[in-house]
Amino acid sequence: MKNNSRRGFMGKAFGAVAGVGAVASLYAMKRSWDPLPSVKAAGFTTLDMSAYKENELVVEKWRGKPIFVLKQSEEMTKKAQENPKDIERLIKVGDAYFMVTIGLCTHLGCIPGYNSEEESFLCACHGGTYDYTGEVTKAPPPRGLDIPPFKIDGMKLVLGEEGPEYKKMKETGVTL
Ligand code: FES
Repeated sequence: MKNNSRRGFMGKAFGAVAGVGAVASLYAMKRSWDPLPSVKAAGFTTLDMSAYKENELVVEKWRGKPIFVLKQSEEMTKKAQENPKDIERLIKVGDAYFMVTIGLCTHLGCIPGYNSEEESFLCACHGGTYDYTGEVTKAPPPRGLDIPPFKIDGMKLVLGEEGPEYKKMKETGVTL
């Protein structure tokens, strides 16, 4: 009798442990089916726009692509303001204007280089050029450098989110 109840207790205890183990392994399996939190967040890159220096190109990364960030100097901003096509390509964060584009030539995808003295980009593959706003100035690139989706959040720029400023740019067709 005593033995039976001990067996019963052991059986229940084993069953309980096995049950917890099964739930845990099901949970682990479900976790491995779900995308990892870091992968979900990987579609976004947050840039602190107060960290950039005027006329100094910084190459960031978003979804595996190079992102050009070029803070405009006062003189560059003035020049851009004279041409509506130029100023509409720039993003205003705080008091400063920035060129933020995907750093791939719109011809065949090479990475253009920036010459800060000439304030222009040259794509060495086939000689295409762009100005300091990313607008194309010499073929063969068919258009300016593409502008990635962004959202302005104070002094931060979140790449991968479509904020109202990006949507406005998209409507004018300037982003592609
Ligand atoms: S890939 Fe840039 S000019 Fe051809």
